[in-house]
Amino acid sequence: MDQATFSAVDEFVAGTLLEEDAALGNAVEAAEEAGLPSIQVSPPQGKLLQLLVRLVRAKRILEFGTLGGYSAILMARALPADGRLITLEAKPEYAEVARRSIEAAGVGDRVEVRVGPALEALPALEEGIGTFDLVFIDADKVNTPNYFSWALDRTRAGGLIIADNVVRGGTLGDAADPDEATVAQRRLHEELRGDPRVSATTIQTVGVKGYDGFLIALVEGA
Ligand code: SAH
Ligand code: DHB
Ligand code: MG
Repeated sequence: MDQATFSAVDEFVAGTLLEEDAALGNAVEAAEEAGLPSIQVSPPQGKLLQLLVRLVRAKRILEFGTLGGYSAILMARALPADGRLITLEAKPEYAEVARRSIEAAGVGDRVEVRVGPALEALPALEEGIGTFDLVFIDADKVNTPNYFSWALDRTRAGGLIIADNVVRGGTLGDAADPDEATVAQRRLHEELRGDPRVSATTIQTVGVKGYDGFLIALVEGA
């Protein structure tokens, strides 16, 4: 099995089960034209995010890592009209591309892009937001455990915390891998071992983006 096969299956799934969405296509195009890296979630992964948003009846979503707004638009589309999504992006030029695409997709009223390193944006988020129903962690991978720990204190019981890119080509299973991002994902898993506040699993994925995976954690009651 190779990358061509993984991509062909993603294309087949997109052609059968996924809705055509011109605004999402335009968002990808705008990001490409502006020179952003093409590292947004794949269309089938994006649909999973939408299903999860609907399953937990999320009204308040926090995203770490906006890029060109692709996953933000997807998740915002799955929100009810009074839902709200805040997305954090370190790079002002990426945030600008995302804002335009989010506006063009018609979800500008539900989505707020905040610019700056996410760790610096968190104190301001403490004020007046309350708790989140779903948090999608997809920014700088070394900080995934830090974002997770912050999110865990601010996600309601029954809510979800999802972290992208935890499998990292399979290095997650290698205790000797020196890569800092991999070490961080292993640490996150070890921190969650036996933590009664969450019930979690990691699902390995292949697709247009190669071999990686999501961690999905359900926040338990107190
Ligand atoms: N969620 C997006 C993809 C995000 S890619 C999608 O699926 O459409 C990761 C993003 O995180 C990049 O845009 C990168 O600039 C941003 N990022 C990296 N470090 C960050 C930080 N410290 N704080 C906030 N965003 C960061
Ligand atoms: C990268 C970031 C991502 O969020 C992703 O899904 C794939 C790659 C990256 O920074 O290379
Ligand atoms: Mg990612």
